[in-house]
Amino acid sequence: MNGARYLKHRRHLILLIIILLGANGAFSQTVNPLAADPRAARAGGGIFRAQCASCHGADAKGIDIIDAPDLTLIWTRVEATDQAVFQVIRSGIPGSIMPPHGFPDPEIWMLVSYLRSVAVTGTSKQIVGNSTRGSELFQGNCSLCHRVDGSGGSLGPDLTAITARRTQAALTDSIRNPSANIARRYKPVSLLTDANERVRGAIKSEDAFSIQVMDSNQVLRGFSKSALRELNRDEPSLMPAFSERQLSETDVNDILSFLQSVR
Ligand code: HEC
Ligand code: HEC
Repeated sequence: MNGARYLKHRRHLILLIIILLGANGAFSQTVNPLAADPRAARAGGGIFRAQCASCHGADAKGIDIIDAPDLTLIWTRVEATDQAVFQVIRSGIPGSIMPPHGFPDPEIWMLVSYLRSVAVTGTSKQIVGNSTRGSELFQGNCSLCHRVDGSGGSLGPDLTAITARRTQAALTDSIRNPSANIARRYKPVSLLTDANERVRGAIKSEDAFSIQVMDSNQVLRGFSKSALRELNRDEPSLMPAFSERQLSETDVNDILSFLQSVR
């Protein structure tokens, strides 16, 4: 992943040099020339469904078993400019199944326009709550499993800047009912080893013969599938559901206000 990022950045550097040298043609465009044209996003959607949906899903939200990412979330990252996304589509990602695409430039810009049009953005408005109190509630109830701003556990996803990616309603729902919508790379599993050890954890990666799990003590472990007595995926989320009795509506809003304050 980091390697791919690095390559992407390196590619930008090379790109910049080409632009500075005054080479014209395909690479000279740095902003989406079709950004203002609403038809571009629609046309891009058509290309997407024909060329990309088999891996990224018809709604661009990704397909778990292929491990192709949710493309509606890419814009929340700082490095995701129109030009960077153009370049990824054009060149693919070396070392992954994301292929290069030799489409003419306008078609790639249409894809960029489409991906902009399905971008998921979180809450832009200020969440009303007491963030100081929220910080304490977070330390007490959540930080065992979640990192924020570099500290905390890692059984659950990093929640830094999560309010930029999820609406307040979706976040509240994740707290009240975590099993309803389980994040990628956090699929729960329960297994029984040949030594009769019961392990619960989140599936980090898997192939036909082996499975890598972060167990509930947050230790990464690998197992050979043939040596397992049980492998049960039909499990509730590793995150406990927080009822109104455990965390009131005010408590939840305080926590979300805290999460919004660390970005
Ligand atoms: C054969 C499957 C496959 C096809 C077809 C495919 N992709 Fe991908 N794509 C992937 C995978 C897998 C990744 C993640 C690679 C990685 O980061 O290691 C990816 C990554 C990406 C990324 C970068 C996402 C990020 O998080 O930075 C973009 C953008 C993207 N694809 C767009 C497209 C578009 C647009 C198309 C169609 C023109 C397409 N892909 C076709 C599998 C595919
Ligand atoms: C025992 C570990 C654990 C605790 C404690 C925990 N979580 Fe989680 N959380 C997880 C795991 C694992 C996931 C990913 C699986 C899922 O989505 O259900 C998750 C998912 C989430 C998500 C969804 C993230 C996304 O990308 O959509 C949010 C939001 C969240 N947790 C907030 C909280 C908050 C707030 C608390 C404290 C009130 C908390 N969690 C306590 C383990 C935990």
